[in-house]
Amino acid sequence: MAETNLVTHPSRNLAMELVRATEAAAIRAVPFIGKGDKLAADGAAVDAMRAFLSTVEFDGVVVIGEGEKDRAPMLFNGEHVGTGRGPMTDIAVDPIDGTSMTAQGRQNALSMIAASDRGTMLDASSVFYMEKLVADHHGVGVLSLEQSIGDNIRELAKAKGKPVGEMVVAVLDRPRHEGLIEEIRAAGAGTRMLLDGDVAGGINAARYETRIDLCVGTGGSPEGVVTACAIKALGGFIEGRLAPKDEAEAERGRAAGLDLDRIYDADGLVAGDNTMFIATGVTDGGLVEGVRRKGPIIRTESIVLRSRSGTLRRISSDHLAERWL
Ligand code: FBP
Repeated sequence: MAETNLVTHPSRNLAMELVRATEAAAIRAVPFIGKGDKLAADGAAVDAMRAFLSTVEFDGVVVIGEGEKDRAPMLFNGEHVGTGRGPMTDIAVDPIDGTSMTAQGRQNALSMIAASDRGTMLDASSVFYMEKLVADHHGVGVLSLEQSIGDNIRELAKAKGKPVGEMVVAVLDRPRHEGLIEEIRAAGAGTRMLLDGDVAGGINAARYETRIDLCVGTGGSPEGVVTACAIKALGGFIEGRLAPKDEAEAERGRAAGLDLDRIYDADGLVAGDNTMFIATGVTDGGLVEGVRRKGPIIRTESIVLRSRSGTLRRISSDHLAERWL
């Protein structure tokens, strides 16, 4: 029987342990919501995530972290995390995706971790931005970054059996996307403007039961790799192309071995069949609810995705608040 059969070959789900680290980061960020200090919010989340990661039985290397070692004291790129025993794993950490949103008290801030087997995750950190196209399985064989956005919308609508006028496209609300937004609307589709957080936007485009059909535009490259870990578990579609800001950044990207002309598909962004994505809401959002206090309880909501088993779990946890003082 195939090794993918879950009944005959069940396997450990590391993500079920990593979720404690995103829960802890989200809880620790709460006192900083709406207080205007994004560095303090991020610092609290980083400390908590790192402490919890140290308890997990795995040999993790941070491929995508808080930055280079000399600029980020913790969870820096290349840092080893976990007990050092167990599966050799690449991880991407974003203790808060949406630090500004957290500091401003806005919605959609998440604490996130993505993971995959050692050596499988693309280190795209030398080029800050990536152009992305994300959808559910209907996009496979239909969508391409080489096509115009209008063609992509029409082709996806056809594959989904939906009128173009009902198509909904998520895009980061940025001046650089003005032309793109015009083209989306000219094609007859509607937009959902994301203040921040195109990882959640991408996942919602690939998730069953959401109104978003497509997530497009230019956002963080690390976020593109993290999104790919989730998209593989959802069986969706993703493509990314690096978008250096200037020639100096392009040169750094080439020196790091990145192919600036390549359209990276899901396997190019993260290879293998063992990708995981874990997120806990910091503030309320379309993917998960934020942390809330209910009397003696702190409640967190998380999602845990794993490609090997094809599962999306929603985990609601009640934590005794007195233990978090
Ligand atoms: P941070 O929390 O690191 O600020 O990232 C938030 C985010 O919105 C990402 O989700 C997105 O990919 C990126 O920033 C977009 O970058 P920019 O804000 O420069 O357009």
